[in-house]
Amino acid sequence: MKQVDVPEELVAAAAKARTVAVLTGAGMSAESGLPTFRDAQTGLWSKYDPMTLATPEAWNEDPGLVWAWYQNRRIQLMAVQPNDGHRALAQWGACRDVKIVTQNVDDLHERAGSAEVTHVHGSLLKSHCDTCRTGFDVSVAPPESERVAPPDCGCGGKVRPSIVWFGEMLPEVEFGHAVAHAQNCELMLLVGTSGIVYPAAGLPQLALSRGATVVEINPQETDLSDRADLVWRATAATALPALVEALALS
Ligand code: OAD
Repeated sequence: MKQVDVPEELVAAAAKARTVAVLTGAGMSAESGLPTFRDAQTGLWSKYDPMTLATPEAWNEDPGLVWAWYQNRRIQLMAVQPNDGHRALAQWGACRDVKIVTQNVDDLHERAGSAEVTHVHGSLLKSHCDTCRTGFDVSVAPPESERVAPPDCGCGGKVRPSIVWFGEMLPEVEFGHAVAHAQNCELMLLVGTSGIVYPAAGLPQLALSRGATVVEINPQETDLSDRADLVWRATAATALPALVEALALS
């Protein structure tokens, strides 16, 4: 492993913390090959208009376009693997109380071996009826065109991706878990999130208000940087293995 200097304050806080919460965003999976949303040039929202793909209105107006776009993202997810950052969190969680709260709709934390992962924005791997909410297993086939009709439910509704779209509520149970983890942790790491999308972006403030130490791991400044106790300008797949290694040696 490449030698990486881990901030001493972070090693000390991590060694001391009895409970850790890790809030992850798209940057967590960037080194696996999945695009973020807001990075210039490469971010999904720099290429696509979220209002035409990730809102209930878009779904009602053009479900075929939305369904095909999510089918493509599912195929992209199946072609990538967890990175060293995901694996380091799983390793850490095997011996410490590390709760992962992710805004990501991929399953890379789980594939890396993390047992407890709270998905606050849904999952690319799940689908449900837009009317009766019955869950569906759908096959993932490469869309043959820009539009693919979503499966019919049978109740008259259409099967949609189980993703939280702009303007929708977060899943109540999952967000309840996320709030509890933020309230109960002694250390919160913010990994690869721009901290722009609420209510998830409010979790660090909640942790701070309960006395937790909040540390940002991100190569870029974010909306949360000013509020963090410590900022480490590093990538997820570099920083997290180095942190876990440093903890093992401390
Ligand atoms: P963003 O695209 O807004 O932010 C990604 C962050 O990751 C940025 O701050 C980057 O600097 C950082 N980053 C990039 N590469 C990184 C790396 N290798 N290691 C660490 N950090 C890196 O993504 P999110 O914050 O996840 O919502 O976006 C929040 C929500 O907005 C998403 O969950 C999604 C989107 O609309 C839904 O799908 C509901």
